[in-house]
Amino acid sequence: MGSNRIISPSVLAADFGHLSRDVQMINRSAAEWLHVDVMDGVFVPNISFGFPVMEVLRRESSKPLDVHLMITHPERYVERFADAGAWSVGFHLEAVDDPRPALQLIRAKGCRTCLTVNPDIAVGRLLPWLGEVDMVLLMSVFAGFGGQRFIEDTYQKVRFVRQQIDRQGLTTLIEVDGGVNAQNAPLLFEAGADALVAGSSVFHSSDPEQAILKLKGIAG
Ligand code: DX5
Ligand code: ZN
Repeated sequence: MGSNRIISPSVLAADFGHLSRDVQMINRSAAEWLHVDVMDGVFVPNISFGFPVMEVLRRESSKPLDVHLMITHPERYVERFADAGAWSVGFHLEAVDDPRPALQLIRAKGCRTCLTVNPDIAVGRLLPWLGEVDMVLLMSVFAGFGGQRFIEDTYQKVRFVRQQIDRQGLTTLIEVDGGVNAQNAPLLFEAGADALVAGSSVFHSSDPEQAILKLKGIAG
């Protein structure tokens, strides 16, 4: 039904000079996961971070690491991300000819599998894979940068994918990523999202823990 109301703060918006402090704050918070955005400068026009930062996050975070790979050739790296402490590993369907090899490697490492698509890729392309993955991640901004404006037609995509999952009796989770804030979060959960990624609206808030509660719909 999509009422899990999971929040996955994106560490991309954290202060990397105080990464440990920011991760501890998430540990204390009501967030369920920690979202880890990996960008290679090829699949997206930006470079974020790689394994050394993953190692810090593994050491410091008490929340499962929800890894979002924005890279070409994910099959070359998914095992290393699993070994570096990922709980779930997601990659872009449009980055590969066939997602099966990377999905197989992720599963073999005991991690959750996730497939994602950018806003300009028809969500219909995810449908054949709904029964093959633990989660689908619908991008509500173009992958590459934090702090972008939420794309409104995401609601109808969430509703559509929710319908397909429910119709097939699957337990696949729906996650939404990009421009999520206290205004659109309740609407996304209502549309059928299980998990929301939030970078700026959490880490750039004057009270991030309270911001997480608001996203979950707990505090007013
Ligand atoms: C965008 C990333 C997002 C981003 C979210 O490429 O995948 O996870 O960090 O940040 P906000 O919430 O600021 O849009
Ligand atoms: Zn992301």
